[in-house]
Amino acid sequence: MTADTKQGQHWLADSYSEHAHFVPALGQPVLELLRPSPGERILDLACGDGVLTEKIAASGAAVVGVDAAPDMVNAAGKRGLDARVMDGLALQFKHEFDAVFSNAALHWMKSDPDAVIAGVARALKPGGRFVAEMGGHGCIASIAVAIVAVMARYGVDAQRLIPWYFPTVDDYRARLERQGFMVDYIELIPRPTPLPTDMTGWLEVFAATFFSRLPEQQRSAARDEVIELLRPVLCDERGRWTADYMRLRFRAHLPA
Ligand SMILES: C[S@@+](CC[C@H](N)C(=O)[O-])C[C@H]1O[C@@H](n2cnc3c(N)ncnc32)[C@H](O)[C@@H]1O
Repeated sequence: MTADTKQGQHWLADSYSEHAHFVPALGQPVLELLRPSPGERILDLACGDGVLTEKIAASGAAVVGVDAAPDMVNAAGKRGLDARVMDGLALQFKHEFDAVFSNAALHWMKSDPDAVIAGVARALKPGGRFVAEMGGHGCIASIAVAIVAVMARYGVDAQRLIPWYFPTVDDYRARLERQGFMVDYIELIPRPTPLPTDMTGWLEVFAATFFSRLPEQQRSAARDEVIELLRPVLCDERGRWTADYMRLRFRAHLPA
């Protein structure tokens, strides 16, 4: 069993690129913070289908992408990238990368964020940098509350099932420092995010873990109830949906 299924996540490359292509598209500022250079060796942690990994490779750096989801790794491999199935909670590298990059993924590694950061520190050479963006405190608050409220009507305690860890600046800075990093920059950034399809597509990609707890015949009714609760706050008069994202972006480095 892969980490993908073990942690109740099930990532499919086709559905991701249809409903969530905005995720790597909005990763440009994190790439700019990374500033990859030719000849560097860089790890893309939770690379997904490799859209950003490919951009890092285009800088001339040698990139390895890892992700827990075999379907995503397969899609990244089809771009000609060195992509491997690996759990971010158990990274297998030792002092071999100049930088570790990660976009929109660390908040999915909720069970042990310190183990993730420790694995990143181990993967880096002395002086190496860790540059990432993840969901931060308050991210998708209204969506999470709506899911919890609706699932309660179906007898499911969804609070317990929340798969995301959305830390504050103080929390994540302290975790980085405990693993030996010096934090150069860390910021919580509100980022209302227009959705390319709609809330159904968003729930399909990012919230399947909740609805899979219900019998098949109840799932679409529960999804519709969530959507109707959210419509007044996240959907405009022209039917365009915007998700209430908060991002935590940072750059940290190890002593040389
Ligand atoms: C929202 S996607 C982001 C993918 C890519 N970084 C991007 O910007 O498009 C989150 C990714 O995190 C991966 N992921 C979740 N938990 C993981 C874990 N424990 N180890 C490795 N990858 C994980 C998922 O498989 C998924 O591909």
